[in-house]
Amino acid sequence: MNVYEGIQLRRSVRQYDKRPIEKETIEKLLRAAMQAPSAANQQPWEFLVVENPETLQKLSNAHTYATPMKNATLAIIVLAKEEGLLFPQYWQQDLAAATQNILLAAVEFGLGAVWMGVAPEEDRMAYVKDLFQLPQGVKGFAMLALGYSSGNVFKDRFDAGRIHYEKY
Ligand SMILES: Cc1cc2nc3c(=O)[nH]c(=O)nc-3n(C[C@H](O)[C@H](O)[C@H](O)COP(=O)(O)O)c2cc1C
Repeated sequence: MNVYEGIQLRRSVRQYDKRPIEKETIEKLLRAAMQAPSAANQQPWEFLVVENPETLQKLSNAHTYATPMKNATLAIIVLAKEEGLLFPQYWQQDLAAATQNILLAAVEFGLGAVWMGVAPEEDRMAYVKDLFQLPQGVKGFAMLALGYSSGNVFKDRFDAGRIHYEKY
């Protein structure tokens, strides 16, 4: 599968098999995340890897739309580390790029995954901060539920009407 094919196939998948994800695969997901572009290459990311079923249950209660965590085998919480950033105003964009890289790598490994929003919702950020006792200056950006699945089904969303050539 090439990158373009992977992009076409990526979908939000919310049901997963019980099969655990190999350690090497988890590392590859995180390697993909850290290859993302970021403003001035500031790489404001850290990651929390969660496989403990009790913690996954707690994550599923983070907000109304976090229920996919209930049957996930793995969660990756994408965290922002604010200290010393050259362009702090771009941290959310940087972390979004890293998050999307994880989703695309997941397709390559036959995993289903879904991105669940945390930032900028204050209550969700507080929930993640409390659950993991995050230190000062570290905050939750997004959480991903992952697991083996056959759920990536192509849906064509191309819309020529969204494209403007040369002028609007
Ligand atoms: C910033 C962001 C937040 C999202 N939050 C949730 C969420 O809380 N729960 C959920 O089930 N899906 C969430 N999604 C997934 C979207 O619902 C999904 O991407 C969208 O419906 C398009 O479907 P697709 O991913 O299958 O292409 C989120 C996606 C993004 C980018």
